[in-house]
Amino acid sequence: MQYTMALGKMKDLNEVGGVLLPKRVCDRWDQIWNFRARPDDLLIATYAKAGTTWIQEIVDMIQHDGDTEKCKRATTYLRHPFIEWIIYVARNAKDNLVSYYHFHRMNKNMPAPGTWEEFLEKFMAGQVLWGCWYDHVKGWWDAKENHCILYLFYEDLKEDPKREIQKVLQFLEKDLENVVLDKIIHHTTFEIMKDNPMANYTFQPPAVMDHSISPFMRKGTVGDWKNHFTVAQNEKFDEDYRKKMSRTSLTFRMEL
Ligand code: A3P
Repeated sequence: MQYTMALGKMKDLNEVGGVLLPKRVCDRWDQIWNFRARPDDLLIATYAKAGTTWIQEIVDMIQHDGDTEKCKRATTYLRHPFIEWIIYVARNAKDNLVSYYHFHRMNKNMPAPGTWEEFLEKFMAGQVLWGCWYDHVKGWWDAKENHCILYLFYEDLKEDPKREIQKVLQFLEKDLENVVLDKIIHHTTFEIMKDNPMANYTFQPPAVMDHSISPFMRKGTVGDWKNHFTVAQNEKFDEDYRKKMSRTSLTFRMEL
């Protein structure tokens, strides 16, 4: 399903269960709904712009024992494996929103984001493509109770990639030598992935993704929201956030 999402026009939208989705996805909703995974499938799930490409590269490197050449066989969205075990990556709402805003600006197949202020409002209202961030992160957090889900955080991956990649290894029941682990850590740093044409989306023509407006591998940092939110926007966002996140045990390190 991931590469269905990444390809093609996403400007014509429809709603399914209150979630804004590309019309062509809605047109095939039965097919998606009835999808059945095989027991050894793996699903990578994230809200858009939470680090999909990053975790795809990490998992592919693990599955190919750190062989960078094998991991260059195709772009991340064609390579990534699917389903039954689930790896979820969540990113703090504010950085996720900022990244999504810039992605809308550079990706000509996405709906136009409007101004920063307008996009911020749409994000808070859950009226953005692929739906509401709050429902997404909370839904997968709750799903952990009944499904085999490794729930990771973008901020933890930034803080200590080795520790987090070891969690992925354990989850996938893989045991790799330290030298291979170090290679995976190196190959999946922001700087290396930014230069990797199989991961940085520069293979898309400028008419689809205009990297001169904002590169796909944009900043790869935690806390860039501080360069976007005004004090008033931040206060409003925090108040709304507290309400929406009041009944969950899920917490993010927002002050990073
Ligand atoms: P920014 O726009 O904040 O830079 P996705 O793959 O889900 O679309 O997410 C894209 C976001 O993840 C972008 O965030 C991108 O720079 C960041 N990202 C991708 N690879 C990364 C890496 N190796 N390290 C840190 N951030 C990464």
